[in-house]
Amino acid sequence: MNSTQISATVHPADKRDSYAIRQLAIKTWYLHYPGIITIKQIEYMLDQRYALQEIDRLIASPSCTWFKIEMEQTMLGFGHFEEDASMRSVKVDKLYIHPKNQGQGCGTTLMRFAEAHYGKLGFGRMWLQVNKRNQASIKFYQKAGYKKEKEIIVDIGQGFIMDDFIMSKKIN
Ligand SMILES: CC(C)(COP(=O)(O)OP(=O)(O)OC[C@H]1O[C@@H](n2cnc3c(N)ncnc32)[C@H](O)[C@@H]1OP(=O)(O)O)[C@@H](O)C(=O)NCCC(=O)NCCS
Repeated sequence: MNSTQISATVHPADKRDSYAIRQLAIKTWYLHYPGIITIKQIEYMLDQRYALQEIDRLIASPSCTWFKIEMEQTMLGFGHFEEDASMRSVKVDKLYIHPKNQGQGCGTTLMRFAEAHYGKLGFGRMWLQVNKRNQASIKFYQKAGYKKEKEIIVDIGQGFIMDDFIMSKKIN
């Protein structure tokens, strides 16, 4: 895959970004996840994780940070990071780049920014969960230096599960 680095910048997101985050998630999930999880599970997880009140609640939370990558004030993608200061670790809870901007280096730019940010704050480890069938994203994380640590199955209610790998990387 050819990745063309584009001149996009990373900034913390705030409540004014909630609607754009939700729209970008909906667009990305319906294109990316069919074949990985069912449409019913996509609907359920979008409702759970991307309701505007839920995004607002997380943006206001002191233990997590959202970063957006944008160009000319258009959001190209976002990441949601959950900090655990006692463990010096950060969970990459969400990472999504708009489908028309994937493969251009945005995900790499966002992750490098977050790793540098948390490294400076004294965090030592970044980790994430990724669906075992999400091969493209697993390759992306591997290229970014993340290693598979273990497998995990999480019951998320309504008969749905997340069948994931946990991947992690030392940043300090
Ligand atoms: C995964 C994702 C965040 C990566 O961001 P991105 O901006 O597309 O990735 P980059 O352009 O920075 O790619 C960096 C490297 O990752 C790898 N990679 C990225 N997308 C890939 C794909 N579809 N297939 C294989 N490798 C891929 C490549 O090695 C690439 O390097 P190269 O261009 O030198 O070959 C983005 O594609 C995305 O939002 N995907 C759909 C949603 C998703 O699955 N998110 C993660 C949930 S856990």
